Order: sequence, then structure tokens, then C-alpha cells
Amino acid sequence: MSNYHIKHLEEYYQVYRKSLRDPETFWAEVAEEHFMWRKKWDNVLSWDFTKPEIKWFEGAQLNITENCIDRHLRNRGHKTAILFEPNDPNEDAQHITYKQLHERVCKFANVLKEQGIAKGDRVCIYLPMIPELAISVLACARIGAVHSVVFAGFSATALSTRINDCEAKMVITSDGSYRGAKTIDLKGIVDEALEDCSGISSVLVAKRVGSDIQMKSGRDHWLEPLLEAAYKDCVPEIMDAEDPLFILYTSGSTGMPKGMLHTTAGYMVYTAYTFKNVFQYREDDIYWCTADIGWITGHSYIVYGPLANGATTVMFEGVPSYPDFGRFWDIVQKHKITQFYTAPTAIRALAKENLDYVTNRDLSSLKVLGTVGEPINEEAWHWYNDHVGDKKSPIVDTWWQTETGGIMISPIPYSTPTKPTYATLPMPGIQPALMDENGIEIKGNQVDGRLCIKFPWPSMARTIWGNHKRFKETYFSAFENKYFTGDGALRDEVGYYRITGRVDDVIIVSGHNLGTAPIEDAINEHPAVAESAIVGFPHDIKGNALYGYVILKETGESRDRDNLSKEVNQQITDKIGPIAKLDKIQFVPGLPKTRSGKIMRRILRKIASKDTSNLGDTSTLLNPEVVKEIMDKAL
Ligand code: WTA
Repeated sequence: MSNYHIKHLEEYYQVYRKSLRDPETFWAEVAEEHFMWRKKWDNVLSWDFTKPEIKWFEGAQLNITENCIDRHLRNRGHKTAILFEPNDPNEDAQHITYKQLHERVCKFANVLKEQGIAKGDRVCIYLPMIPELAISVLACARIGAVHSVVFAGFSATALSTRINDCEAKMVITSDGSYRGAKTIDLKGIVDEALEDCSGISSVLVAKRVGSDIQMKSGRDHWLEPLLEAAYKDCVPEIMDAEDPLFILYTSGSTGMPKGMLHTTAGYMVYTAYTFKNVFQYREDDIYWCTADIGWITGHSYIVYGPLANGATTVMFEGVPSYPDFGRFWDIVQKHKITQFYTAPTAIRALAKENLDYVTNRDLSSLKVLGTVGEPINEEAWHWYNDHVGDKKSPIVDTWWQTETGGIMISPIPYSTPTKPTYATLPMPGIQPALMDENGIEIKGNQVDGRLCIKFPWPSMARTIWGNHKRFKETYFSAFENKYFTGDGALRDEVGYYRITGRVDDVIIVSGHNLGTAPIEDAINEHPAVAESAIVGFPHDIKGNALYGYVILKETGESRDRDNLSKEVNQQITDKIGPIAKLDKIQFVPGLPKTRSGKIMRRILRKIASKDTSNLGDTSTLLNPEVVKEIMDKAL
């Protein structure tokens, strides 16, 4: 029996049980058989969730890019590693072979070194979905620099906050980016961000759109001439298993975004293992994940997981609606995609369009469909299953998080019978627990509770960059000796898990995690605003949309409400990015508060969702009269 590639349900259960009985032997076998180590580990695992401190494969030495690139050169040198599909369907796709990828990563790594970047330095990458994004990520890993990719839809303020938090020395960006019919001035956003970042000594700029941009002399460099001049080989830096690989920011329910730190060996082993199993990847498959590398899904399942398996991974620069709503299906047909991994929000958006977009394309190459990022509703699941998968491609509803590094709960296609809206069963090595509000584990089936994980797995985040205390408080304090996910879940009669959604103040909009507090902070900075509260409400396409309740200052009372609403959204766009804009804004005289001054969001959520028949207990409110006033004018 191979631990590495599960092929039927019985085998899954056997492997799963083995992984529980002896997790260390289990992961040691996976690590031993499928990766290239410069030195083997002295100790598979040491852990203490009270500190918390987690170490996997301590003492081992490796470089993740040797595993993702070099070791494939002998047998897969001419195989396509990255298949780049540009925004414009008339521009040629690029097939970058493993050999070419090796050379491009090495050259890029040498450029980084020439620019003074060394092991342990942080490099911020703010790029669109062009090959340079994957290549720069790998180039950092090649020399042991810690990459911090920031999604190129974030605003200048969001970018500068992230650059400063991890004290990055360099930014890698492009002149601009294409998104459908739009061209975005990325370099302009970087310039604005860097006004607040004194630690950046150099900016590398890839040419993508050919726009006229400002280059600050001494700081900014065009990438292409540097790459051309660089040497084509670069000896990989030998890293310790627990050396940092990357930082990736995710929203918290309060305050600053959290820079989740992932380390090298465990992350590599777990993402590669789950990629192979969850997508049942076979040698000649063409795998496509539509996420952006700016999110964890792109890190783990566009770059590291697929490349560690010698796979062909597609990178798509554009959007599903350009030049029309058939674009995804055009790409599936054109490149004969075998595994297709996307977000429920994209499925819902496409399901609203004419079915001809799907039925006119040949999608027969597909074998596995995946979803990630938010719960998938029954209707979207069936549409995906019937029209995209033609009822023959299993859907893997994969539940995981930036913090978990890799997929935690998911069917294994062709093994686990799927069930709409259920992420089904834990991956080998993953020990979920459902907890009640008193911190007691709820055993048995047909129960629901707060989802925790009670044993470490290799790709879990090790800390929040620069704030270990917050790491402990956020994830390891709510339930003793367990990692708390922030999600609620239920377990059905056969032990399948269904994720019911966040139980904290994070709202998932179109698959993006948004904390309420940072959005409220952004709104409150508007001179006419006194206070605000944000809640989510169900939305057909986005899953959740944002509803803002805003109290104006006296000076704002006379202002036109439509204009104020636009300004509030502009404020959010400037501080965070357009993804955090509010769908509805209601100006209110007050917010329902408890006697201790806490906003009662439960009531606001009900009003926003038009579910006001039972508001629950309002007796503890300081100002119950305001509830009726808000309800009367609700949008
Ligand atoms: C939610 C994305 C239901 C969940 C990889 C989680 C999901 C948060 C699913 C993490 C799913 C992700 N079903 N909910 N299949 N996948 N989520 O950090 O609330 O961007 O906590 O990681 O998305 O989002 P993140």
C-alpha cells in the first residue's frame, strides 16, 4: 500500500487510520519516498500547542525549488511546467518547460542576489498573474528569501501596510496589468505605497502593458535587462526544514492583517501530498486552478503542490467574463484541461449566464472539478456537476485556510462518494474536532459545533510574523490544546463534514476573507462619519455581500446621502481595495448596543438579511428603540 496516492475508499480509510495511529511514521514515509533531501531529519515532529510551537522534520535540509524543478529535469525537462494563458485570447499561450523554468528561476534568483537580497530577507511581490509571478516566488525560495505576495487588487495603503509589517527590502511589480478590458496602473500604486515605506531599497519592474511609467532613479529597475545579463544557473540555498518560506497576509476579525508564516519542509510535503490525492493527478494531466497566486490557493495549488509533483499547471491572467462568459470553458477546451479548480462565487456568476457558453464547448477532457474558499450552495453544486462535469467528474469541495497551508477536508475523487455542500472527510493526518461553547468536544455523528484540529499537520502556519502572542490568542486560546479554525461545521450520520461558515467577525465575500473591523476603521476615517458597523448578508453570486450601517456626525447630516455613499465606498477602495466595497449603506441614527457598549451584530445581521421575524433577546440592549428605526428604513 502506498501512502502517497490513494485510489479507493477502503484504501483511504486504511491510510487515514494509519495516519492517526502513528502520525510520525506516516509522514516520515511520505517525506522519505517522494522528495529530495540534502539531509534527512533527526526528528519528525515536536509540538506544544500551549506555546504554541510546532516543528516538522527538524534537522532536515533541503531546497524546495530543487524539489519543484531540478529533480524533474532528467525525465520531464521538456514537459510543460507552467502553461500561461494571457488575458487576451488572441495573444499566444506560453508553454514554459521545466528546463526553461529552471533557467528563468535561476536567472531571477541571481538578479535578486545582485540587488543585495540574501537568505531571510523579505521580498514583497505585487504582480498580476503573469509567469514572472510564479518565477519570482520560486526565485525567492531558491536563495532562501522570504516572499510576501500581495494580491495585485489591493490598494496602495493595503500594500504599504504589508510591506512595512514584514520589513520587506524589495518590491517586485510590473508596469501595469490587464484585467479583462481594463488596464491597471500597478506601478503607480506601488509608487504611492512606497511613499510610506522607508525600508524598500529596490523595485524590480516587469514590462507587461508597455505603459509610460515613472522610474525612480537608483530605486527602480526594469527587470528584463537584468535578467538578460544574469547567469543561467544558481546553486540553491540549503535551507533548514523550519526556515521560513513565505509570509501571506490574511484578514483578522480585528486590527492589522495577519502575516501567516509558513516554513519549508512540512509545507512542501503536505501541499504535494494533498495535490496528488485531491486532484488524482496523473502524469499527462493538464491541471488548472483559477485562483490568483496572491492568495494561499495559488501558492499551494498553482505553484508549490503541482510543481513538486512534476505537473503541468495553468496560469490564467484574465477574468471569467472576458471577452465573454465562455472564457473559462474556452480555456478548458483549448488546453484540454483535466482538473479544474475554482471558487463557488465564479460558478454562481457563470451559472447566471446563458447555458450555451458551456454547452457549446467540448469539456470532455475534464476528470475532476474542485471548489474552494467558501461554502458551495446546493444549486451551484448541481449546476457545476451537471453542466461542467456532465455528471461524470467528481466535485472536490475542499475546505482549508491560509493558516492551514493545504487542503484539510475534501473528498478524494473516484474514492469518496460526494455529497452536495459537504467537504466530506479529513485528509490523512488531519484530526478534526467539533467543540461546544463550553469547550467540550462533541463526539459522535449528527452533531455540529466549532471546528478545531487537535493534532499538528505538516503545513500549518507556525506563527504570525512579528506577533506570536496574537497567533496564540487567535488560534490556540479559544479551546485548550487545539487549533481553532474560526469556522462552524456539522458532521452528518456517516461522519462527513459540512462547513457552515465563520463564527467570528470575518465575512467571506466572493471567496475573499474580509474582517469587519478594518473596513469599519476605513469608513470611520471619513470626516462626516461618526461610527459604523458592517455585517454580511446573503448574496446570489458573492455568497455574502456587505451591508454597512453608518452614523453621521452632525456636520454630515445635511449632506446628500448618495454622494456620501459613494465617498464611503471610495474610502474603502483607497484603504483596502475594491473587493471590500459595501453593497448597501444605510445611514442610521444609532447602533444597537449592549450595556457594555458592544454593538449587537446579531440584530444587524438579521435586519440586513431581511430575517426580522425573530430578533432574539433584545432585553440587554441599552437603546432598544433604535432597532425599530433601523428596521423601518432598512434597504
Ligand atoms: C472558508 C482559502 C466552506 C472558511 C483556502 C475558511 C470554506 C476560509 C471552504 C479560509 C469550503 C474555505 N467550504 N468554507 N470548501 N474553503 N472556506 O484563508 O470559512 O482565504 O475559514 O483560505 O474560507 O479562507 P482563506
